[in-house]
Amino acid sequence: MPSAIVTGATGITGSAIVHHLCKDSQYEKVYSLSRSNPGNENPKVQHATLDLQGSAEEMAKSLKDVTAEYVYFCAYLARDDPADLSRVNGMMLSNFLQALEITGAIKTLKRFVLTCGFKHYGVHLGHCKQPLQEDDHLLEKNYGDVSWPPIFYYEQERILKDAATRGGWEWIVTLPEDVLGYARGNFMNEATALGLYCAVSKALPGSKLPFPGCKANYFAFNCWTSANLHAKFCLWAAIAPNAGNNIFNVMNGDTESFQNLWPRLAARFGCKIPNPMFPYGGTPDSQGFGNYEATTVRMQSRHPLAAHADKIGVLVDSNPTLFLQVDPEKWAKRKDVNEAWAKLRDTYNLDQKAWENATWDFLTFVMGRDWSCIGTMSKARRLGWTGYADTWEELEETFSILEREGILPPREKHS
Ligand SMILES: NC(=O)c1ccc[n+]([C@@H]2O[C@H](COP(=O)([O-])OP(=O)(O)OC[C@H]3O[C@@H](n4cnc5c(N)ncnc54)[C@H](OP(=O)(O)O)[C@@H]3O)[C@@H](O)[C@H]2O)c1
Repeated sequence: MPSAIVTGATGITGSAIVHHLCKDSQYEKVYSLSRSNPGNENPKVQHATLDLQGSAEEMAKSLKDVTAEYVYFCAYLARDDPADLSRVNGMMLSNFLQALEITGAIKTLKRFVLTCGFKHYGVHLGHCKQPLQEDDHLLEKNYGDVSWPPIFYYEQERILKDAATRGGWEWIVTLPEDVLGYARGNFMNEATALGLYCAVSKALPGSKLPFPGCKANYFAFNCWTSANLHAKFCLWAAIAPNAGNNIFNVMNGDTESFQNLWPRLAARFGCKIPNPMFPYGGTPDSQGFGNYEATTVRMQSRHPLAAHADKIGVLVDSNPTLFLQVDPEKWAKRKDVNEAWAKLRDTYNLDQKAWENATWDFLTFVMGRDWSCIGTMSKARRLGWTGYADTWEELEETFSILEREGILPPREKHS
C-alpha cells in the first residue's frame, strides 16, 4: 500500500489533504511536514517538524527514513515583494526535491502534486482572459511595451518539471481559486474576514450589511474552491490514468456571484440588506456607504488581458481600478467597529488573534475589482473527474467551523 508526504500539513490546503489521506484506505502511511506540529492523532500520520528554508542536506537528515509514492506539496510562505515571493517559495520546493534526491526517496516517487493557484493566470494583477484555461499562454514579465511583476508559480512549476524529467516520475500542478476552508491558527483566509465583517455588521446599530466592493463586482461572476474538494482532487489526480504531467484548474464547479451570495450572507448572520445597496453609484471615486470611508485603488500594471489583445482583437490600454464603498481595512480600524467586536469577543470568548490577523486587504481585492474571475474544469472532466461542491454550502460549513473554534460568535445567538 502506498505512502504519501504532505508538506504545509498545517495549512488550509495541506491539512485538508492529510485529512482525506487518512480517510483513504488505499494509503498506509502519511508523513506530514511543517515547522509547527498539528498534533494529528491518527495512527497513519507521522509528523516531522521541518523547515523548508533549510538546506537540502539539513532536510535530508530529517527525512532519512521517509519514502513515499506520492508527494503533496502545499507549503507556502507569503512575501510582499513578488521577486522575493518567487525566490523563497522556489527555494523551498527546490531544496525539498534535492533532499529527496539525497535520501534516495525520489526513487519510489510516482507523482508529485504541487498546489499553486489562479495567480498562475495573473488574476491578482487585473482582468484576465475568461474563462481561464490551462493552455492559456503564460503571463510573461514583458509583453511588447507592457510588463507585469514575476509570478512565483512559474518558478515553482519550472523547478518541478525539471526535477520530474531528471527523476523519471510525473508531476501535477493544481490551480485552485480562493480557497474556502479552515486551518487552526491560520486566520489568513477569506471566510474568516467575511464572517467577521458580517458578525460585526450585525452587532452595529441598524445591522445593515453593505457590500464593501463596487457595483460591477456585485453583478460579476466568480468561482471558489473548497479545501476539501481540492484535497479530493489532489488524491484523484495522483492516480488518475493519463493525468500525469498536467496542470489543472480546480474549482467547485458552480458559478457564483455576490448578487446571489450577499443576501444569503445577510440572512445567515441576521443582517439587513440595504436598499439601495449602492446609494452613490458604487463606481470609482464615488462616496462611501453611509459614514464609511470609500477607497479607489489604481493599480500599476496593465490588465493581463493585454497579453491576449492580438488574439482577441481588442486593444487593452487601461490599468485595473479597485473601488470599495466600504474600505475593509479602514472599516476594521474604526472605533465603533472595534467596540462592537470587543463586545462580541468578551460575550462569546472569541479569539482576538482572528480579528488582528484577518486579511482585510484580501477582501479589498476580491470585492473591489470590477471584473469576473471564472475558470473552466473541462480538462479534468475529460479525464474523468466528477467532483463538485456547492459554494454556498462550503461557505456555511466553514462559518460553522469558525463558530465552533471561537472565531465567530455562535449562530443562534445573533439570528
Ligand atoms: N488559501 C487560499 O485561498 C489559496 C487560494 C489559491 C491558491 N492558494 C495556494 O495554495 C498553496 C498553499 O497555500 P495555503 O493557503 O494552503 O497556505 P497556508 O494555509 O498559509 O499554509 C502554509 C503551510 O506551509 C507551511 N510552511 C510555511 N513555511 C514553511 C517552512 N519554512 N517550512 C515548512 N513548512 C512551512 C506552514 O506550516 P508552518 O507554519 O507550521 O511551517 C503551513 O502548513 C499556495 O501556493 C497558495 O498560494 C491558496
